[in-house]
Amino acid sequence: MTTTWGKPEGETSEQTAEVHRRWFEKNQAMRRDRWQERAKVPTRFHHFSALDLPAGVRTEVQGFIDGCVAGTDGGVGLLFYGPPGSGKTTAATVALREVLARASMDWLGRTPGLGAPIQPGRFISYADLIALQQRAFRSDDRGEAAQEIVDSLFLDEADNANVKILALDDVGKEHSGGSGFTVNVFHRLIRTRFDAAAPTIITTNIYPDAWADGYGEATASFLSEAFLTIPMVGRDRRRGR
Ligand SMILES: Nc1ncnc2c1ncn2[C@@H]1O[C@H](COP(=O)(O)OP(=O)(O)O)[C@@H](O)[C@H]1O
Ligand SMILES: [Mg+2]
Repeated sequence: MTTTWGKPEGETSEQTAEVHRRWFEKNQAMRRDRWQERAKVPTRFHHFSALDLPAGVRTEVQGFIDGCVAGTDGGVGLLFYGPPGSGKTTAATVALREVLARASMDWLGRTPGLGAPIQPGRFISYADLIALQQRAFRSDDRGEAAQEIVDSLFLDEADNANVKILALDDVGKEHSGGSGFTVNVFHRLIRTRFDAAAPTIITTNIYPDAWADGYGEATASFLSEAFLTIPMVGRDRRRGR
């Protein structure tokens, strides 16, 4: 049997192009599935989409997603606030997962010479972030592993392990004690990410008028500048409303 360029006999160049296109698409789909797994969004939130969000919230979340997909988002994040059970984490995970499903590889962080991003999106609770940051001070393997995760959130220079879009869940739970350490880590994180045009999505039960008390004046004013603030207060969670 004779073949040219490993192409089955009789196959036209259009057919070859089609085979390549399908192979490429399958490859891309597998890569996006891996990104979703590595984002570590709890499974119970996987079946929601933007269509499930209350109308006003949906419009703002959709605008954010579209900005990331079009590559025009300059690092402005989303901040959902409201009481427990108002749908904050649901809205945050919808935004994260839809951006991971649709944004371009370049926006998500292709690194010249290193290729595709490894974990362009990540969900983490604020309590876990603080625990990681504390563990990173240990001078053993666990400390080193924690430091690597922390670095990926704080964005190392030119590293394809960087997390381009971060969902930080339940900010403020730790603030009852008002530890300077946690406030500091939080401020540095959102500031560094904003400066690197890497959006952060925050959920919190702290209302805007209490930010200054909980996080300090500087952080409060930065939050109002670098985030689109979305109240989940009194929202009707029923589909389509
Ligand atoms: N848009 C929605 N449509 C249907 N159910 C929702 C929606 N948003 C949240 N829920 C449900 O309400 C509950 C609380 O949502 P969650 O996002 O965890 O709230 P919060 O983070 O504000 O505490 C969950 O069980 C979730 O499944
Ligand atoms: Mg929540």
